Amino acid sequence: MLWRPLVLAAAAIAPSVDAAATLRFSCSQLVVDRLDPLVNPGMNPSPHLHQVVGGNAFNTTMDPAVHDLPTTATCTSCTPVEDFSNYWTATLFFRARNGTFKRVNTFGNELGFTSAKGGQTVYYLSSGKVTAFKPGFRMTVGDPTFRTAAQLNAKYKYMDFTCLASSMTRGGQTLNFPTSTCAAGIMVSIRFPTCWDGKNTDSPDHQSHVAYPNGNACPSTHPVVVPQVFYETYWDTRPFNDKNIWPTDGSQPFVWSFGDNTGYGIHGDYVFGWKGDALQRAMDNNCNSDLFANQINCPTLQVQSLDQANQCTIKPEVNENLDGWLTELPGGMPIM
Ligand SMILES: *[C@@H]1O[C@H](CO)[C@@H](O)[C@H](O)[C@H]1NC(C)=O
Ligand SMILES: *[C@@H]1O[C@H](CO)[C@@H](O)[C@H](O)[C@H]1NC(C)=O
Repeated sequence: MLWRPLVLAAAAIAPSVDAAATLRFSCSQLVVDRLDPLVNPGMNPSPHLHQVVGGNAFNTTMDPAVHDLPTTATCTSCTPVEDFSNYWTATLFFRARNGTFKRVNTFGNELGFTSAKGGQTVYYLSSGKVTAFKPGFRMTVGDPTFRTAAQLNAKYKYMDFTCLASSMTRGGQTLNFPTSTCAAGIMVSIRFPTCWDGKNTDSPDHQSHVAYPNGNACPSTHPVVVPQVFYETYWDTRPFNDKNIWPTDGSQPFVWSFGDNTGYGIHGDYVFGWKGDALQRAMDNNCNSDLFANQINCPTLQVQSLDQANQCTIKPEVNENLDGWLTELPGGMPIM
C-alpha cells in the first residue's frame, strides 16, 4: 500500500521496466512570498501567495536568457547540491468560523524528512530511458480557475489530496479538499506530464509544450519522454482540527491562497535548474532513494544533510504580514 503512489506514478510513464529511477528528496522551505516569476514575471506583488523551495536564485523575474539558475544561485534548500531548480505551489489558509484566516505551515515529510524545515518532497521518476530537461525549461500544471471535478478530470491527471490519519496513510486520495479533520495533516500530491515536444523550453500557457502519454506512449506531437516531476507537500492542518472553530454549516475550512475552497484549482510550478548533466546522470544511473530515510542511493549525486538544506532561505521580496489572524487573504483574493 505504501508503495502504491510511486508504482502508480511510474506506471503512468512508459512500459519499459529495464531501467527505472525513483529519485526522492527533501527541499526545505526557501521562502513564502507573493511572487510568481513564471506566470507573472516582474510583478511584485503577484496576485497570490506561494511556498517556494529550491535554489536561492528565485526572484521576481527569472528570464532564462539572463538568469541561469545554477550559476546565479549560491545554495539550495534541496538535498542534492546540484539542484538549483525552483518548485512552488500555492499556500493553504484556514478560515475560522469568525471569517478570519490563518496561514497553514508546511512541515517535513514524516517518511524520512522530519527535520526538514517545511517545504516539500520532490520526486523524479522514470521507467525506461528519459531525457532530462534543458536549461531554461519551465512548466506549470493545473488551473487555479477550476472549481469542479469535471474541469480537473477533463484536462489534468495525478493531482490529489490525502487526508493523513497517520504519516503512513496512503490511499483514499480525493481531488478536492478532505471534508473532515485529518489527524496527521493533509498531503498534497502534484504530478507533472511526462512528454515534451522536444523543442520549446516554455510555451505561452507554460503547459502546451508538454503532454500526458496516451496509454504508455507519448503522442507524436510530444515524442520526448522526460522524468516525471512529482511534489508531495505536507500541510500542518493539525492546529485546526477543533471542529468548534470550523464553519457552522459543517463545510471544510481550508482555502488555497488564490481563493479556492474546493481544492480543484490545485496547481504547481516548476523551473528546471540542475547544474550541468546532473539530472541526466541520476536518471541514467537509475538512482533511487530510501523511502524511510534521507538517503539517496546515487553515487553520481552529491547530497547535503537536511540541516544544511534548512539553512538555504531567502527574505521575501514582498513586505506584508502573513502571520496571525488576517481579515483577508494576501492580495485581497476573494473566495470564489
Ligand atoms: C532579487 O532581485 C532584486 C532586484 O534585482 C535584488 O535586489 C535581490 O537581491 C534579489 N534577491 C535574491 C534573493 O537574489
Ligand atoms: C477568530 O477565530 C480564531 C479561532 O478561533 C481566534 O483565534 C481569533 O481570535 C478570532 N478573531 C476574532 C477577531 O474574533
